[in-house]
Amino acid sequence: MKLTELEKKMRGGVAGDVIAEAMDYLIQFGEAFGAEKLVDINYCHYPAEMGIYYGDIDDLVKYAARGAKVRVPTTTSTLCADLEKPWITGIPGKLAELQAKVEPAHRSMGILETYTCTPQLLGFVPPFGSYIASVESSAIIYFNSVLGARTNRGGLFTRFSAVTGKYPLMGYLLKENRYGTHLFNVRIPVKRLQTYDAWCALGFIIGKIVGSEIPVIQLPITKFQDPILQRTDWLLGLGAALATSGSVTLFHIPGVTPEARTVKEAFKNGKVPKNVYEIREKDLDDVYHQVNNIPSGADIDFVTLGCPHYNLAQIAYVARQLEGKHISRGVRFWICTNRMTRKQAEYSGYIKKIEDAGAKVVADTCPVESHMRQSTCREYGLEVPNVRNMVTDSVKMVRYVKDLIGCNTVLTDTDKCIQSALKGKCANTNGTNNYE
Ligand code: F3S
Repeated sequence: MKLTELEKKMRGGVAGDVIAEAMDYLIQFGEAFGAEKLVDINYCHYPAEMGIYYGDIDDLVKYAARGAKVRVPTTTSTLCADLEKPWITGIPGKLAELQAKVEPAHRSMGILETYTCTPQLLGFVPPFGSYIASVESSAIIYFNSVLGARTNRGGLFTRFSAVTGKYPLMGYLLKENRYGTHLFNVRIPVKRLQTYDAWCALGFIIGKIVGSEIPVIQLPITKFQDPILQRTDWLLGLGAALATSGSVTLFHIPGVTPEARTVKEAFKNGKVPKNVYEIREKDLDDVYHQVNNIPSGADIDFVTLGCPHYNLAQIAYVARQLEGKHISRGVRFWICTNRMTRKQAEYSGYIKKIEDAGAKVVADTCPVESHMRQSTCREYGLEVPNVRNMVTDSVKMVRYVKDLIGCNTVLTDTDKCIQSALKGKCANTNGTNNYE
């Protein structure tokens, strides 16, 4: 790999052993994948060191104690605890204390304590075409597709990019690897695409087919001015789902996402797609039949909104729906977000309305990342499974809680999630439930 004089000196130890080691890892990594050189990144979304992973926190604390400092603006992904209000999720005290050790370590490294899967909501919006390093599949696909920044799935190497400001020029950083591979013509009536869960379901279908390649999605709406295409939260849900049923890292929607103004442009000026698919309403219905296994009217004990973490407008909507009402006894209702959005929601009076109704706005974490995983419950002597029947508007949540928490699930729209929480019963899901 060709290195600049400065990069050679960094590897040689002129900036200390932390940088030298990180450069060495990045160079070996890049050489293994045939990268010609390193490039400068302008932003990093850093892996959360998690209390539920053995040795993760110790490793971070030791790394920070070596004097590691980040060189680019760096945000952090989710944790297993709400560090500001640990009691809110019922996490065992010992685990919350362990998780809290990340804060001083991250602060000493210059890492911003955002603890979220949606750092873009906090203004971390890397410019089009810029190189970044990121973890968290839903954030990575959003950065690549909706913003047009360039990142691979960063994994553990993200740490080395954060402290050096470098990443090997390879994978999705190269324009030639960013063209579409498969074309999906969506033939679903626009009226079915008016809710967050529907976009999640659409992503789930396409991700399953395309695997790790790059889908080009033609929607039944063509004008960008259509309000449906201005819902970045729906694009976020779509991307998170693509990265859940498949391992999609980049998608294009001609006329909407910035790298493909037309289908022709998405496929490298007219290159033929490997395959063309038609996605119909029945395919959408099949997703609900596949993931929903709680009968309508059955008792539920958990409702989750905010996967990926909700923005302020979404929280405001839930607050309006819950105002003056009370959720059913025995139901835990979490609306997950980041700590800054929760503060904003507090100022605006939304948190009070939500809490008065008996629901909780949870920051820093979510059910998937929390202590409710079966393995963690066993370790801390909690009931397993800790949740039996969960209703949610996110297919990513459904997919992971099934395996990790071991609960039954229903995917439905946000309004029906709220109705379910109020009644304590699974709301009628309009024929999209397996059991109807
Ligand atoms: Fe975020 Fe948790 Fe969903 S980390 S993307 S809310 S599974």
